[in-house]
Amino acid sequence: MPDRPALIVDCDPGHDDALALVLADAYADVLGITSVSGNAPLDDTTRNAIGIAALLGSSADVYAGEAGPLVGEPRHAGGVHGRGGLGRVALPQHDRVISELHAVDYLIEATRKQSNVWLVPLGPLTNIARAIERDSELVERIEGISLMGGSTDIGNVTAVAEFNIWADPEAAKIVMGSGAPIRMCGLNLTRQWLSDDTVAARLKEGELVKALVGAAILDDIHDRMEALGRGRRCALHDPCAVLAVTHPTLFQFEPRHVTVETRGIYTRGMTVVDERTTPGVPEANVGVGYHIDSTSALELLFSAFEEAKT
Ligand code: BDR
Ligand code: CA
Repeated sequence: MPDRPALIVDCDPGHDDALALVLADAYADVLGITSVSGNAPLDDTTRNAIGIAALLGSSADVYAGEAGPLVGEPRHAGGVHGRGGLGRVALPQHDRVISELHAVDYLIEATRKQSNVWLVPLGPLTNIARAIERDSELVERIEGISLMGGSTDIGNVTAVAEFNIWADPEAAKIVMGSGAPIRMCGLNLTRQWLSDDTVAARLKEGELVKALVGAAILDDIHDRMEALGRGRRCALHDPCAVLAVTHPTLFQFEPRHVTVETRGIYTRGMTVVDERTTPGVPEANVGVGYHIDSTSALELLFSAFEEAKT
């Protein structure tokens, strides 16, 4: 793998998506950023994505994608991220414009032009599933998919479903069954890496605007978590999926068979991770994340915010 892997980040910013974009910009070659309906409606996640790209001086264009899931109505996470996706956080003004190409077209075209690309989905998997439906050979062209979604144990929207999978289970099922090499950063992993006020305080010592925006993002999500009765801390979900590509040695992944429940009354959107060790279990299709070195991950987060682009 090259020192800086080539990524396309598919996201729904989202506080933690924004932090993940900072990490991707610091440690990878971000070819493009695609937006999807998820934490907030598509217009909001797209506006936030291009605002972060501008803040970072990223050369990646932003492509707007799907405004709702494959089946049913769009579902958002306003209770956590606010109605616009980034709560009270105001991103700096900029003059960048959204690409005219649709995100799904971009995913297909970009992976035809370059073969070693990682897709890093940080929201519902609608864009990725649509691209695979239209071009099934896409999964053979890419290096892999490192996604934030699912869980080996408990969920966050329901007892067993995590938001990104729950918001579009049909898309997640297509992606999990696509044959692509997949790294799954689920809640069981991402909840091992928590931010708190000390992280925000350290970012406030930085001189770069991106560090101050990062601190504002953390302050806002910590306020929201506190108001929800969860304490002034937040799991850094989406950054895990970026570091799983740029710094894989920080992680423990295990091969597992994973599929997605689309029909259960109580279990729709659950990632069904087969942890049996008996003979005859289905062949593994996903590398499931079980452990992250959160101390090293945090140092990488600080460096990403503190380093100016050369
Ligand atoms: C996931 O859902 C969103 O709220 C976050 O951005 C993250 O991608 C966590 O369940
Ligand atoms: Ca997200």
